[in-house]
Amino acid sequence: MAFKAKSWLILHLLLLLAYFMQHCVYGEFTQVPCLFIFGDSLSDSGNNNNLQTHAKPNYKPYGIDFLKGRPTGRFTNGRTSIDIIGQLLGFKKFIPPFANTIGSDILKGVNYASGAAGIRNETGKRNVGDNIALGLQIKNHKKIVSRIAAKFGGLPQAKHYLNKCLYYVNIGSNDYINNYYQPLLYSTSHIYNPDQYAKVLVNQLSNYIETLHEVGARKFVLVGLGQVGCTPHAIATSGKPGLCAEKQNIDTLIFSHQLRSLVDKFNIQHLDSKFIFINSTAGTPDRSLGFKVLNAPCCPMGLDGMCIRDSKPCSNRNQYIFYDGFHPTSALNNITALSSYNSVFNPKMTYPMDIKHLAQI
Ligand SMILES: *[C@@H]1O[C@H](CO)[C@@H](O)[C@H](O)[C@H]1NC(C)=O
Ligand SMILES: *[C@@H]1O[C@H](CO)[C@@H](O)[C@H](O)[C@H]1NC(C)=O
Ligand SMILES: *[C@@H]1O[C@H](CO)[C@@H](O)[C@H](O)[C@H]1NC(C)=O
Repeated sequence: MAFKAKSWLILHLLLLLAYFMQHCVYGEFTQVPCLFIFGDSLSDSGNNNNLQTHAKPNYKPYGIDFLKGRPTGRFTNGRTSIDIIGQLLGFKKFIPPFANTIGSDILKGVNYASGAAGIRNETGKRNVGDNIALGLQIKNHKKIVSRIAAKFGGLPQAKHYLNKCLYYVNIGSNDYINNYYQPLLYSTSHIYNPDQYAKVLVNQLSNYIETLHEVGARKFVLVGLGQVGCTPHAIATSGKPGLCAEKQNIDTLIFSHQLRSLVDKFNIQHLDSKFIFINSTAGTPDRSLGFKVLNAPCCPMGLDGMCIRDSKPCSNRNQYIFYDGFHPTSALNNITALSSYNSVFNPKMTYPMDIKHLAQI
C-alpha cells in the first residue's frame, strides 16, 4: 500500500517535472501555471463565433490590429485586457477559447467568456441571441477540470495544481445593459430596485465563486463594472445629446461596491484563498494618456452598437477610448491591463493588491 502510494507520488512528480521541462524548452516561464477566464464580451476570444447571436464580432473591422489583422471573435481592434494580462504573466500563447481547445494545452487555462452573457441565465438572450451565461461557463469549467484530473491521475492531484492558477471573473455589465435596462423584454426592473438588483446579482455571483472554489480555485480576480452609462451607445440612446446616462453609472457603481465588499468577506471566510477586486472606474482615462476622443466610437457603429460590417475604422486608433459602441480599444485595454497587473501605474485600481502580487502568493 505504502509502496503503491509512493510510486504514484513519484509518477506525479515526474509528470510535473516533464511539464516544467516542456516550459523550459519553449523558454516560457509563467508566474502562475494557468489562467481561467470567465466573463462577457470584454474577455470573449471566440466563444460566440458558432452561436446564433448578434454579439459576434467575427467580421472586419474587428481584429484589425490583432496578429494577422484578422477578426477572431474579440470585440476590439487588437488584444483584450485579459489577453494582455496573460502576456504580462508570461504566457506566450493566448489562452484558448472553450469553443476551440483542440490542439491547445488546457493545462495552461481556458477562456469561457461569452459576449452578451451575464450572471443571470436570461441576460442577453431575448434581445441579442444565444450566449453562454456564467452558470454554464462554470459547468464548462467542471468538464475541463475532469479532463485535467484525467491527465494528473486523479482529482486531488489536479486540485493541487489548480490551486496555483488564476481565476479571472469579469461579468455583470450585461445584467444591466441587456436585462435591467430592457424593461419590455425582461422583468427584473419591475421586480427589483437598483439596490436589490445589485444584491441579487452579487449573491448569485458569490454562489458561482463558491463552486469554483470547490473545484480548486484559490486565487481570484473579481472585476468591477466600468462606466456603463458613458459608452458611445449609452450616450447615443440616453435621450440627452452628448451626455452620459448617469443613472446607469449610479446603478452599476452599487454593484461594484457590493462586489468589493464580497472580496473582503471572502478574504476573511476563505483563509486558503486570496481574492482581489479591480476598480474599473478608478482610472478614468483622459488626454494625459494620449487619448483625444473619449466618447465616440472608432468604427462606424450600427444601431446595436457593434461596428458596421466591413466599415472603415479610424486610423488613429491609439487616440480613441472606444472601438465600437460598447468596447474599449486595445490602446485602453493596454492601460487597464498594466494597471491591473502592477499597482504602480494606478494604486486606486487594485484592492487589496495587484495581480502581480496575487500571482506570487
Ligand atoms: C442557469 O443555467 C445553469 C446551466 O445551464 C443551470 O444549471 C441553472 O439551473 C440555471 N439557473 C437558473 C436560475 O435558471
Ligand atoms: C473606484 O474608484 C473611484 C475613483 O477613485 C471611486 O469613486 C469608486 O467609489 C471606486 N469604486 C469602488 C467599487 O470602490
Ligand atoms: C501598450 O503599452 C506598451 C507599454 O507602454 C507600449 O509599448 C505599446 O505600444 C502599447 N500598445 C498599444 C496598442 O497601445
